[in-house]
Amino acid sequence: MERALPKHIAIIMDGNGRWAKKRFLPKKIGHKAGADALKKLLEKVEKTDIEHITVYAFSTENWKRERQEIDDLMNLLKDYIGQYIKDNETSNLKIDTIGDISVLTEDLQKDLAYLKEISKEKTGLSLHIALNYGGRDEIVRAVKNIANDVKTNNICADNITEELFSSYLDTKEYNDPELVIRTSGELRTSNFLIWQSAYSEFYFTDKLWPDFTFEDLQQAIYSYQKRERRFGGRLDSQC
Ligand code: IPE
Ligand code: IPE
Ligand code: MG
Repeated sequence: MERALPKHIAIIMDGNGRWAKKRFLPKKIGHKAGADALKKLLEKVEKTDIEHITVYAFSTENWKRERQEIDDLMNLLKDYIGQYIKDNETSNLKIDTIGDISVLTEDLQKDLAYLKEISKEKTGLSLHIALNYGGRDEIVRAVKNIANDVKTNNICADNITEELFSSYLDTKEYNDPELVIRTSGELRTSNFLIWQSAYSEFYFTDKLWPDFTFEDLQQAIYSYQKRERRFGGRLDSQC
């Protein structure tokens, strides 16, 4: 029997730079094509029973890139948010972010806060945008908050469990992704959801992100549905 649709899919949207290079275009155009690919994909995902999509948009390590590329990415993000705010009346998509957005410009933070506010009343697909996100950074931030709560006697160190730890992560409000997809042929997580993907199924494709379509997503889901998930146990054993 085939497994049900994953409720939460996480995507490492990689390959914008190579997509542009192949066409002798500036990287900026590749990133724009990537943003358009996401928009098109979401329009179709919204019509399915998938509940959460988390996308890796900017990592804690992406600050190592040239200033110009970073600025282009931030401007693109601003446009994306602006567009969503404009479409607010007609869209039922809920958007929030994971990652430490406190280092982004005040302007961008304001837009993101407004976006989250208007998203509250939405009931459709949840899009979680990973922005200045790094799995290690998220874990360190969680540890700091736990340490603080131990210090102020809000929690007792003996009561720290995996569940409690998870409740200090940016993703505390929803379940871990059943499926993680990475485009562009790279076979690594690059610091994405490293705690949450402990038992996720991974799907890698050579397709560059701007070329990734809903049909590619269906193929990834189909691959996921055929897999045997054991979580360390044995499927043929009842004891
Ligand atoms: C992914 O595309 C987008 C971000 C990391 C922001 P890349 O820009 O990493 O594309 P490649 O890996 O250079 O092709
Ligand atoms: C991962 O892609 C980050 C995002 C997609 C935002 P990178 O292109 O930054 O990853 P590496 O450098 O190839 O590992
Ligand atoms: Mg890359």
